[in-house]
Amino acid sequence: MSYRDGIAPHGMQLINRIATPEQRQEFLAKADDLPRVQLDERAVSDLEMIAIGAFSPLTGFMAQADYDRVVADMRLANGLPWSIPITLSVEEAIASSLTEGSLIRLDDPSGRFIGVLELTQKYRYDKTTEAINVYRTDDAKHPGVQVVYNQGEINLAGPIWLLQREAHPQFPAYQIDPAQSRQMFKEKGWKTIVGFQTRNPIHRAHEYIQKCAMETVDGLFLHPLVGATKDDDIPADVRMRCYEIILEHYYPQERVILAINPAAMRYAGPREAIFHAIVRKNYGCTHFIVGRDHAGVGDYYGTYDAQHIFDEFESAELGIVPMKFEHAFYCTRTESMATTKTSPSTPAERVHLSGTKVREMLRRGELPPPQFSRPEVAAELARAMRSPLTVTS
Ligand code: ADX
Repeated sequence: MSYRDGIAPHGMQLINRIATPEQRQEFLAKADDLPRVQLDERAVSDLEMIAIGAFSPLTGFMAQADYDRVVADMRLANGLPWSIPITLSVEEAIASSLTEGSLIRLDDPSGRFIGVLELTQKYRYDKTTEAINVYRTDDAKHPGVQVVYNQGEINLAGPIWLLQREAHPQFPAYQIDPAQSRQMFKEKGWKTIVGFQTRNPIHRAHEYIQKCAMETVDGLFLHPLVGATKDDDIPADVRMRCYEIILEHYYPQERVILAINPAAMRYAGPREAIFHAIVRKNYGCTHFIVGRDHAGVGDYYGTYDAQHIFDEFESAELGIVPMKFEHAFYCTRTESMATTKTSPSTPAERVHLSGTKVREMLRRGELPPPQFSRPEVAAELARAMRSPLTVTS
């Protein structure tokens, strides 16, 4: 495969682990005889991300050599940068019933057969070391650490196949896999593309940093994460509607592609920023936005830790350029969005609201101010908060 027309995927090859029709028939014929492992929501999205090439060069769940080096120094065993372990963890009793060298049937949480693992290795791992190195804390209240502490003791490793690429049940129109996004960028003639990760409803600081980036690149790849998030984050369907609305009113639509990122959120702050950038490189982005406390939660990370971590790598080995932005706010003195790099404002002249504050306002039936949120987006959020069916989904 030539990458003359775009950025090379991580590790130079875009992985495709979706079973061919023949493989699928073969797997289906064996389905009842294979040992089963039931995946949780996060493992389902990891399976999907591996299969579509978003986690290139990974072809499956990590073996111990990769896992150990990723946890210790953010690299795969072959030295390629990689910051988050991609593992399939099971309880000891399940692991001991499985034989290395065999095929394992992977079911989703409802018991549906969705993939196959060729089990090459089973290994024990240290949860505290993973927590401290990857999440920079061993606090069980951290949502990412909590997942590690609650998962099984043994990791199952090996290459996988996704049985079939199915349309996303909620957002089929926005399901754009890496091979497709690369093709779309090429068709549009975009040479430089900035990727944007988000797990929150769009607000004006997001819009501001996206548009600052758009001033210097050919196109924006808006890539909201729609996999598992913590319970108090705003559901993906609400966030996607907010994106549709804001794109319609406030963006030059021919310069933006909106697509879903099916991954689960880890809340690993700095390490997840590296991971998010690598994933967007696989989708064909040349640049990636990293703002304040990227992928952070609570007070676990410093405001710009997720930017500083990029200095730990050579730019050529990451192969995607981080576009770093200061904390943006609405400045009442200059009557525009700004950061302290561009505005002489005092703190009292800066309008900024935390996600928690906005959720509280919406619950009280108040709309966030237009300096924080576009009115059409605020109205949609308010409507969603009034509809218990949506907010609890
Ligand atoms: S994240 O967990 O996906 O990072 P969020 O959706 O809030 O959370 O952020 C998306 C991106 O916008 C991240 O790069 C984040 O750093 C950036 N960002 C969010 N709010 C601001 C802000 N007020 N100023 C600058 N960057 C911001």
